[in-house]
Amino acid sequence: MCGIVGYVGRRDAVAILIKGLKRLEYRGYDSAGIAVFTGDSGFACKKKKGKVNELSRILEQEPLTGNIGIAHTRWSTHGVPSDTNAHPHLDCSQEIAVVHNGIIENFQELKDTLIIEGHTFLSETDTEVIAHLIEKFYAGDLEDAVRKAVKELHGSYAICVTHKKEPYRIVGARLDSPLVIGVGENENFLASDIPAILEYTRDIIYVQNNEIVSIDLDSVSVKSLDGMKIEKTPEKINWDITQAEKGGFPHFMLKEIFEQPDVLRKIINTRLSGENIHFDELNLTEDDLVKTRNIAIVACGTAYHAGLTGKYMLEECTRTPVWADTSSEFRYRDPIVGDDTLMIVISQSGETADTLAALREAKKRGAKVLALCNVLGSSITRESDGVIFTHAGPEIAVASTKAYTAQLATLYLFTLYLARLKGALSEARIKELLSEFKRIPYLLEEILTRYKVDGNEIAHYAKDFKAYYEKGHTKSFFLYLARNINYPNALEGALKLKEISYISAEGYPAGEMKHGPIALIDENPWVVCIATKSRTYDKMRSNIQEVKARNGIVVAIVTSGDENIRSLGLNYVIDVPAVDEFFSPLLIALPLQLLAYYVALEFGYDIDQPRNLAKSVTVE
Ligand code: AGP
Repeated sequence: MCGIVGYVGRRDAVAILIKGLKRLEYRGYDSAGIAVFTGDSGFACKKKKGKVNELSRILEQEPLTGNIGIAHTRWSTHGVPSDTNAHPHLDCSQEIAVVHNGIIENFQELKDTLIIEGHTFLSETDTEVIAHLIEKFYAGDLEDAVRKAVKELHGSYAICVTHKKEPYRIVGARLDSPLVIGVGENENFLASDIPAILEYTRDIIYVQNNEIVSIDLDSVSVKSLDGMKIEKTPEKINWDITQAEKGGFPHFMLKEIFEQPDVLRKIINTRLSGENIHFDELNLTEDDLVKTRNIAIVACGTAYHAGLTGKYMLEECTRTPVWADTSSEFRYRDPIVGDDTLMIVISQSGETADTLAALREAKKRGAKVLALCNVLGSSITRESDGVIFTHAGPEIAVASTKAYTAQLATLYLFTLYLARLKGALSEARIKELLSEFKRIPYLLEEILTRYKVDGNEIAHYAKDFKAYYEKGHTKSFFLYLARNINYPNALEGALKLKEISYISAEGYPAGEMKHGPIALIDENPWVVCIATKSRTYDKMRSNIQEVKARNGIVVAIVTSGDENIRSLGLNYVIDVPAVDEFFSPLLIALPLQLLAYYVALEFGYDIDQPRNLAKSVTVE
């Protein structure tokens, strides 16, 4: 985790670095720091526990000026969030400054040796060993010292390093943590992610594993660990910084929820030509796909819930056995995966360490790996055999929303593509489903228009929940019940709510109620029942009755116009438009996201940056 940024140029480095950090705060925000060359061989470093704004406040009181510097926003792994553990970390001579994203697994052994050799450590972090190792190897050439130092490191890192004796350059390196170079005119940048620097340049070089980079005012050099020069041509970024900003919404999460119709439109325009489905970047042959005997889907968190929904889609339409698992479990259970397995890994960021590790494990076992990913150039896309980009655009809020529906939409199209290849579904049914799929952006718009206005029904339900909670029902929590293809949505609704509102929430297949969770039902739980028209509609109605009979409070998501279900005495109702049951998860996801959003808003929590979380989880 963590975000790093470096700047060499003629402008105010502090302003650029702080702005960059703010755009990287989705990667962590428990402390931040900056080191800049202040001219006349001066070098200053400021660090502060808390969000980037805390650091900004310090810099307002004690300003720094300079044109070259590095900065960091942290998500703690080794050592509590504190001023001392914040980056940059310095060596004993206080001449070398390092910012780091990743984990140095052998830091304790290195630290023990460096202490014996006379180095003094100030923090509890793993990162500080990097500064001291570079100090140990420094003999007048920073790049050379960094090269020697990183060869000693086990684990993952993206680093930016400066040395007081070379106040014209920044050296960077990466292994398994992202790092990009922004190429400008008389200025160059390093950053964990493009939004940090997109305001200044669209020319980006993706740094690869085991590369050492050096940037100064007018040059960029990339070398291998053996010191061999590597030629790189910058790639042009064609998305805009406004896409990475709030665009008038109070939170990124709300903005991203409202972007979903456009995301779906983009996916349809990119993937469909008439009734032909195409994935131009796929890089797997039709033969690879047809000979697949089983499909494994592996991902984390929200992406896992999309994958679990994919299991229902793919089994129904392709008649291929599919299992879905979380990346962290897959890896350690000796999975049965071979050369007849298509492994689908799903990730918004493309940097999730558990998913990357699962991908490597599956490849080792001979599986073909297909990545469904939102971030171009990310580690997961580079290491997979094939890739399908999900085209959600940059997602900034920690709670994933548009990336989820983009993953679902992409899985739907891939399912129909594979079903067609395998001849597992009639052409007439595929066409029928594609025509229904093209309606989805309009249906999403219909839902969002309804819940756009201030004081909308879902916002009102959230208000009621808070009032209920404060009236003494502090044991209240949320239970999400659903069946079949919407069961993963129950898990996702619960995850969204707990992530941002810190209220206990659980997702359950409604049929499992009677096997235990029904014991929880009294006047405390608010039970969100996904009860739209489907083949399990009658069963869901019975579940609702079971909850009502035990005084549970029911929030039912129902198909618009279904008056009949209201006779069950529902406490709260959320309507969604009628759609083929197969695609209903795409629609139902939206009210679930909005409910979580409005509950968190009522409780006044930090919606875009919930406590203890980070957008991209690059630690196992
Ligand atoms: C979603 O709201 C979460 N923040 C989290 O579960 C996320 O989906 C998970 O960490 C996976 O991330 P990825 O899609 O970037 O791999």
